[in-house]
Amino acid sequence: MIKLNDINEKIIQAEYAVRGSIVDRAQELERQGRSIIYCNIGNPHTFKQKPLTYVREVLSLLEFPNLLEKQAITNLFHSDSIARAKYIYNQMPGGVGAYTPSAGIGFIREAVAEFIAMRDKIPALPDRILLTDGASKAAQAVIQLLIKSPSYGIMVPVPQYPLYSATLTLLDAKKIDYYLDEANGWQLDLDELEESLAKAKANGITPVAITVINPGNPTGAVLTRENIEMVIDFASRHKLAILADEVYQNNIYGSKSFYSFAKVMHELKVEDVSLFSIYSMSKGYFGECGHRSGYLEVRNIDDEVFAQFVKLQSINLCANTVGQLATYLMVTPPKLGEASYDLYAREKDQILQNLKEKSRVIGDELNKIPGISVSYPEGAMYAFVKLDLPVPAKVDIIPEDEKYCLALLEETGICVVPGSGFGQYPGTLHFRTTFLPPLEEIINLVSRLKKFHIAYQNLG
Ligand SMILES: Cc1ncc(COP(=O)(O)O)c(C=O)c1O
Repeated sequence: MIKLNDINEKIIQAEYAVRGSIVDRAQELERQGRSIIYCNIGNPHTFKQKPLTYVREVLSLLEFPNLLEKQAITNLFHSDSIARAKYIYNQMPGGVGAYTPSAGIGFIREAVAEFIAMRDKIPALPDRILLTDGASKAAQAVIQLLIKSPSYGIMVPVPQYPLYSATLTLLDAKKIDYYLDEANGWQLDLDELEESLAKAKANGITPVAITVINPGNPTGAVLTRENIEMVIDFASRHKLAILADEVYQNNIYGSKSFYSFAKVMHELKVEDVSLFSIYSMSKGYFGECGHRSGYLEVRNIDDEVFAQFVKLQSINLCANTVGQLATYLMVTPPKLGEASYDLYAREKDQILQNLKEKSRVIGDELNKIPGISVSYPEGAMYAFVKLDLPVPAKVDIIPEDEKYCLALLEETGICVVPGSGFGQYPGTLHFRTTFLPPLEEIINLVSRLKKFHIAYQNLG
């Protein structure tokens, strides 16, 4: 029988805290009848966020195309959903049960390119788009492509979404940490980037790319255009590729705007930096995490390199077909004058307004708790909350932030993820919370957390 020490040790070493031991304990408590506020994961539909009607109408019709011939559907579905489903169906003779081309369905890649061109007012090419099973697979493909040997490394923010650290571990590659500047709203800092790169090179690592997550997970920060320009210049000077994780581009709550790396790079006329941008239907106002729907857009690489991406994808045959269709619907929403337009706009606004309100409660109220501070969440679905607690000089087997999160869970039923799961500046303690649960639960969370934190401080 295969035992643990017989299997690939990189899988054992890889860590993904968002679904780690605290969550296991939360589920155990829930089975015992405790009520838990799950703030550990950005999975909107599990928090009563409704799927957009238009998206589900079209997908339903495509899953069961016999309906397209029934007169009765005109009473059940919006006319533009029916028309859209017919249009898609006619272009896909195999329907949703068939494999697609490895890079993705042609008309969807075209629609994605048009979406990018419209969003950024820049040219975009369909044959530089790859449809993937969520952004995760896109990021993993890029990392797999760039890592030539175990001495190769990729710069990753600290704190970061652990997809990046885990994938680098799996591929036996080097993670080159760079710290985000908490005092400056979690922006990137040039001196820190230079220092981190120089240290990696001095340690014999070959840096090949820098990963940037904007808007940030777990920070909730939105990068300024100047910050993005700085990163592009840094990458160009050091011959690094950029992996831009832009899955939260629609989740913006403050006064800052989202700028894609593609747009800024195009406007700066930078052509010597390869750019890999990823986007997904899991976040924004869609929250369609379960459809595993996403894409990769690549700029400034040769045809023969893109062909290798396609080959990599072909080893898995193709991204799931329904996910690709969902991506199509993400990039082609109903137009003004179409039957679904008003409802779509209403549903979208409601979701974004609600998230904005909850980000405000988290930003305002957590900062009122003595011993807790947080950068006001400007985007994404998270806040990375700083705990002003003593950090012992010697690290225990269970890190201090994990002890805190476990005690918080046991005491209050609030399930958050310790900062150490994302990385944090040495000597600091954090946890990450989402603001996805309904507003009443977020308000409840703040008051329970306050009581708990004061008691916990006094214990110490
Ligand atoms: C920054 C970031 N990138 C990628 C993903 C994964 O997205 P997908 O569901 O499209 O794989 C997540 C999910 O939480 C994320 O936070």
